[in-house]
This record gives sequence, C-alpha cells and structure tokens, in this order.
Amino acid sequence: MTTPGKFTGQTVYVIGASHGIGEEIARAFAADGAQVLITGRSKERLDAAAERIGHPVTVFEADATRQADVDALFAAAPEIDHLVLAVSGGMTGLGALADLTDEALREGFEGKVFAQLRILKAALPHLSATASVTFIGAGSSRAAFPGTVALAAANGALDAAVPPLATELAPVRVNAVAPGVIDTAWWHPLGENRDGFMAQQAATTPVGRVGQPHDIAEAVLFLAGNGFTTGVVLDVNGGTTLAAGK
Ligand SMILES: NC(=O)c1ccc[n+]([C@@H]2O[C@H](COP(=O)([O-])OP(=O)(O)OC[C@H]3O[C@@H](n4cnc5c(N)ncnc54)[C@H](OP(=O)(O)O)[C@@H]3O)[C@@H](O)[C@H]2O)c1
Repeated sequence: MTTPGKFTGQTVYVIGASHGIGEEIARAFAADGAQVLITGRSKERLDAAAERIGHPVTVFEADATRQADVDALFAAAPEIDHLVLAVSGGMTGLGALADLTDEALREGFEGKVFAQLRILKAALPHLSATASVTFIGAGSSRAAFPGTVALAAANGALDAAVPPLATELAPVRVNAVAPGVIDTAWWHPLGENRDGFMAQQAATTPVGRVGQPHDIAEAVLFLAGNGFTTGVVLDVNGGTTLAAGK
C-alpha cells in the first residue's frame, strides 16, 4: 500500500507543461497523488508529455496569449488548489537594447508577463480559499547579463507583482520561483553553442553545475505545500547571483 502524499486528491493546474520545467512540476505533483491538468499549445506535445510523466494527468490545449483559449480552459474548471504558471515567450526579446525592435520587446512581455497574469485572472473565481499560486520567473531579473534587458524587465515585472498579489488575494498564497540556468529545450536555439554554454555556466556557478527541472519542481512543491509562506520570490540558481568575497 502506498502512503498518501501531501497533495493527494488536490487539484493542480500547471500552465505550460508540455516539456521542461512545467512537465517536471506536473510529474512531481502527480507522483504525490495530485489530480493534475497540464496545458500547452499543442495536443500532440501534451499527449507526449503525459506519456513521459507516467502518472495520470489531464491535458488541455490552450495558448496562454489567446483570451478565447484561456476562457475555454477555465469554463468548466473545478476548484483549484494549486496553480503553477510556467509559460514564457522563450528567447524572444534576447539581445542588446540597441538591436531590439518594439515588436520583440512586446512579444517578450506578452509571452511571459501578460500570459501568466491573464491566466491567473481567469483562474481567480476557481481558486480554493487555501490555494497557492506559483509563478516561474527567472533569475535574469536580478542579474546583470548584457543582452538580457528585455527578459530581465519582463521577469522583474513578475517579481514585482508577487507581494501585492499576495496581499490582494489573501488568504490565497502567491509566490514565485526564480530559476537560474536550467537544462531544458528553452536553450535549443543556441544550437551547436548550447553544450559549451552549459559547461561555461556550470564552471562559474558556485554549486558546480547547471540546474535540472527537478531542482525547480522541488522548490514549487515546497512553496505550494508550506501554508505559512506567501509573497516570496525564491531564487533557485545554484548561487549564480552571489557576490564572491575578495
Ligand atoms: N530553462 C531555463 O534556464 C530557465 C531559466 C529561468 C527561467 N525559466 C522559466 O521557466 C519557465 C519554463 O521554462 P522551460 O525551460 O521549461 O522552457 P519553455 O520553453 O519556456 O517551456 C515553457 C512551456 O510553456 C509552454 N508554452 C510556451 N508558450 C506558451 C503559450 N503561449 N501558451 C501555453 N503554453 C505555452 C511550452 O509548451 P508548447 O511550446 O508546447 O506550447 C512549454 O511547455 C519559463 O517561464 C521560463 O522563462 C527557464
């Protein structure tokens, strides 16, 4: 007989879970006995993720940048115990400010800030009184890497939204995880430079490696499960933003 997990029987929506970090978060909740729904823009990719997850999950195809899809997602939603927002616009907006078009800047914000806040707004009537909401932001918001101004600004906007949402939606708890470099398909556009980039990141990270999706999933389950934590942006980055002593 298996021991019931902390999340057994609870309803969890993971938005943006057809691969990478969202998929791993969905797996961790489902392995703990939660009833998990995962979303993404492709039914085919979602079905493949459900197969890899290896526990029963429900899939729902919805583009978080389209209001009609978001409305459909929540039209028949049950009471939700935990909402995790993992969508992003990928690398859109990466580059030096001098090279960025207005369109790329807007798309970067649309794919992350507007998508995540739009979903949360639509979910509000469905959140249980003890629900948790966890945004997946990014450590770029508090770093100073040249060429990441748009990503940093978008993720910084999400960081800034956490405290006011935590008081506005209380007793619902609202937190965020700010991942460092995590080994997922997000980095595939780097092509043949990807392995070298990961090796260089590992070498300059205090813990000596890049992150894996399970590092972020563990942090999300902590924030979702700890009823006394709200308004927090939790860095999970292997220490990359620490200043070394001289
Ligand atoms: N990987 C890293 O190093 C890293 C570092 C810091 C922060 N993060 C953040 O962590 C989160 C997850 O990133 P990831 O690395 O797993 O890769 P990702 O490529 O950003 O994955 C995002 C997930 O969201 C889905 N998605 C993307 N746009 C969507 C939309 N408009 N509507 C619905 N679903 C959408 C994707 O599936 P479909 O393409 O099938 O729709 C995928 O399942 C993102 O917010 C990212 O910014 C990642």
